[in-house]
Amino acid sequence: MIQAIRGTKDILPSEIENWYFLENIFRSVSDTFGYKELKTPIFEKTEVFSRGIGDGTDIVNKEMYTFDDRGGESLTLRPEATAALVRSVIQNKLANAGTAQKFWYFGPFFRYERPQKGRLRQFHQYGAECLATDKPESDVEVILLANSIIKKAGISDYKLLLNSLGNDSSRAEYRKALIEYLENKKEQLSEDSQSRLQINPLRVLDSKDKRDIDIVKDAPILSNYFDEESKNHFTIVTSMLDNLGVQYEISPKLVRGLDYYSHTVFEFQSSALGAQDSFGGGGRYNKLFSELGGKDTPAVGFAFGVERLLLILEELKLLPEAKTDCDIFIVAAGDGIQNYSFKIAQELRDSGLRVAVDLNDRSMKAQMRASNKSGAIFTILIGEDELNNNTVTIKNMGDSTQVNIAYNELSNFTFNIA
Ligand code: HAM
Repeated sequence: MIQAIRGTKDILPSEIENWYFLENIFRSVSDTFGYKELKTPIFEKTEVFSRGIGDGTDIVNKEMYTFDDRGGESLTLRPEATAALVRSVIQNKLANAGTAQKFWYFGPFFRYERPQKGRLRQFHQYGAECLATDKPESDVEVILLANSIIKKAGISDYKLLLNSLGNDSSRAEYRKALIEYLENKKEQLSEDSQSRLQINPLRVLDSKDKRDIDIVKDAPILSNYFDEESKNHFTIVTSMLDNLGVQYEISPKLVRGLDYYSHTVFEFQSSALGAQDSFGGGGRYNKLFSELGGKDTPAVGFAFGVERLLLILEELKLLPEAKTDCDIFIVAAGDGIQNYSFKIAQELRDSGLRVAVDLNDRSMKAQMRASNKSGAIFTILIGEDELNNNTVTIKNMGDSTQVNIAYNELSNFTFNIA
């Protein structure tokens, strides 16, 4: 038997309603915030991500699905959306200085990671990006958007972790101090952190390895290196969140795994998830546009992992009730009856009802059983009598009452489908 690729998942009919449930929330909440949908291709030139996300990151170094196409060009299945969206905004000239441009997206992404619960090689993200403003108010807006989605999905028990990476010059100062501190203890760090030390020392801060955690405890603190601009930006973000009653926790070691961030970074965590407890994250990225050849355009955004949101909903029993197969099941048996039953089914479908017919030419009894199983609210029975008299018998499956009406009256019949 040919199996699906490890770390990929079929989305089965029994699960699809859960996806629609979230997708409808993504669409409607984004709309209330005035964000517009933008869809980029599934693959891009590799440099979009290597330049955008950063050469020193795990995503670029270890996790990208990169291949040469038949023309010899290096292409990559998108591991995230932000760099691709920025490429598209530059190419399509969608950003105007001085006016915030707001976009959202939903779709599949690809990372070569070790599959486990909540970690896939093809996963889905919903995300939103607010472009062309460096104001802390826009950081707050995207956090509010993320919060509204989580709340609308019914999730109340979660944590918003917040930190600031400061501006580039503050971070450069801090980087020097951190490298100096870590170099002295290099031997005691994990192998991963030793190799990250010079390229991406901030990542050592959020390492999960016990050896690193011990050393990081006494490392210099990033916020102590902030200049006025860095301090002001973050103070406005936190005080606005306070005023709005948004709960958050300052997490001084939160640095995130992508290189493009500066100032505000944040992550959403849920205890309903296992080891992969982060179901979303984002932050400000002011240099990505220039990195990808565009005009300096400050921006901020975030993305949720949709499979992780679904895991939370499942764990907390918040998934919507499963939909029935149909509203009306037509039970029809007898010679030449199919034309009559198909005609009726089609007319009812055209009026917006969900109608199923038996396609296996089974007995009346077997069809009745199928109707029961389908969850239909009404069964329409068509036998020889109905065919000869041009009528149908409608059975209410709730109270088992039946009426026989003329075919002509069917369009006036009120099917009460809750
Ligand atoms: P990220 O933290 O790499 O950020 O991914 C966002 C979310 O995608 C994660 O919190 C997680 O829920 C989900 N995710 C990531 N990798 C996997 C995986 N292998 N399997 C399942 N779920 C996964 C970004 O991608 C940034 N582009 C977010 C952003 C937007 N920053 C600014 N704008």
